[in-house]
Amino acid sequence: EHSSPILVTGGAGFIGSHLVDALLAKGHAVRVLDNLSTGKRANLPLDNPRLELLEGDVADTALVRRAVAGCRAVAHLAAVASVQASVDDPVATHQSNFIGTLNVCEAMREAGIKRVLFASSAAVYGNNGEGQAIDEDTAKAPLTPYAADKLASEHYLDFYRRQHGLEPAVFRFFNIFGPRQDPSSPYSGVISIFTERALAGTPIILFGDGEQTRDFVYVGDLVRVLAQALELPVLEVGAVNVGLNRATSLNQLLAAIRDVLGGLPEVRHAEARPGDIKHSRANNSRLLERFEFPEPTPIREGLARLLGR
Ligand code: NAD
Ligand code: UD1
Repeated sequence: EHSSPILVTGGAGFIGSHLVDALLAKGHAVRVLDNLSTGKRANLPLDNPRLELLEGDVADTALVRRAVAGCRAVAHLAAVASVQASVDDPVATHQSNFIGTLNVCEAMREAGIKRVLFASSAAVYGNNGEGQAIDEDTAKAPLTPYAADKLASEHYLDFYRRQHGLEPAVFRFFNIFGPRQDPSSPYSGVISIFTERALAGTPIILFGDGEQTRDFVYVGDLVRVLAQALELPVLEVGAVNVGLNRATSLNQLLAAIRDVLGGLPEVRHAEARPGDIKHSRANNSRLLERFEFPEPTPIREGLARLLGR
């Protein structure tokens, strides 16, 4: 049964490539569909005979149909991950972030494949969490095209579940960090940017007062959960937050980087980003109920790995 592949869309990206590694290590065959917009071939062990890379777009209906054919399950991670990119270009990001999901649903219905994992986001809650732990029933407030596309994707997956027996495993990721997170854009994940600049000794830009908080999850801890969701015989219905229920402020993050490196470059202050969420922390009891989630990697340990210490 391990011979038919699991399709990982966005598999050449940061989170996707770690999932690919985990699935290969468990003996699965893996097919990746990725347009290499932010993903890289170098993230993938392309010499592994159980890995196949299809280069192309999830917005291409015919290509998605071909990619899905013959697979046993799909992990749909392809998306433009930058919230700000969706604000700047809603039409282009909608093709990846919503049409891509619809194409995956349709292709799976046609092929009779049931299990699909979806990378949704804490962004669907907008600012409704302010200061408290956000559970999955917290009212949704998608403030950006990115969040609206993620929430719409969730609703479509649920339609295909009710109407066509799809088995969606929807995860709302909080802030994921770790190796291969690409720091090259100003809208990249904050830890990838801060650690890269700390190593290079170039100035760090802090938007706002640095008291905004995030619930940071090390990518290896996330991927263990994703692999379980693809393998569990029965899945419960409903989206699952992936966070640690721990708030780390950016000021605390900078202090931790300074501790690991023994110093920090200059920190420049800039205006808070418009629409930036102030506090984001997951109530993760559903995650702990449904999945095995061993002691997560402490942020300092994750940082030390990233900083090569
Ligand atoms: P990433 O940019 O490294 O990965 C996205 C991958 O999708 C890349 O390899 C990219 O080339 C590919 N891609 C983008 N548009 C595509 C398209 N139209 N067709 C085919 N491939 C396409 O980012 P990531 O952080 O690994 O994000 C993976 C998923 O997790 C995304 O869906 C993102 O929205 C979601 N997510 C990430 C975080 C986080 O903190 N990193 C939090 C919540 C949700
Ligand atoms: C992140 C993810 C998004 C995901 C969401 C879920 C990325 C790029 N974004 O968004 O996909 O859906 O989590 O919670 O992975 N900051 C600075 N200086 C910088 C860069 C950022 O001060 O150079 C600040 C930002 O203003 C923000 C915080 O750091 O307050 C976090 O920003 P960022 O890493 O972009 O993540 P989110 O916007 O939380």
